[in-house]
Amino acid sequence: MTVIEVVRGDITLQDTDAIVTAANESLLGGGGVDGAIHRAAGPELSRAGGAVGPCDPGDAKATPAFDLDPPVRHVIHTVGPVWEGGGHGEAEVLASCYRRSLALAAELGARSVAFPAIATGVYGFPVREAARIAVAALRDGDRRIELIRLVAFDEETYDALAAAQGS
Ligand code: APR
Repeated sequence: MTVIEVVRGDITLQDTDAIVTAANESLLGGGGVDGAIHRAAGPELSRAGGAVGPCDPGDAKATPAFDLDPPVRHVIHTVGPVWEGGGHGEAEVLASCYRRSLALAAELGARSVAFPAIATGVYGFPVREAARIAVAALRDGDRRIELIRLVAFDEETYDALAAAQGS
């Protein structure tokens, strides 16, 4: 059985086997949550990202977690959709980010994985809709993962994820 929990916090401080980053297509590192993860993992993460990248929106690629504290062993790099009003397939791409990241983590043997609120920062996806899509995609996703932790960096995101998870 997969447990989905919602917490408020910093994804770089989570004790899961894998953490997901909301990257750009190059996988070389960016700002926001991706910047925080690259700072915590060290410069090797950018080199490893470049080696497995680029990555299409909706897809996911894995690298080691380098200097991130154990037990984090894998960073799953996924690329969200840039919000263009909602009529350009953004919801499908976002759902695919969650499904592909979860499946990849499971293939790597991870039992627990932490997700940020993909695409809701720089990429502009409305938080409430993104939270509903995230929870629905994860509930339908790979069953091999025991714990999925949705990590909200701010209160609005926490409230949206908690509401989606409780519905
Ligand atoms: N832990 C958890 N969540 C975080 C952290 C952190 N340390 N830092 C930021 N966040 C949150 C943001 O508050 C937002 O809710 O992650 C969510 C996603 O925001 P972004 O990082 O802006 O990601 P996204 O909207 O997918 O945009 C991706 O931003 O930095 C670039 O390279 C990245 O171009 C890509 C784009």
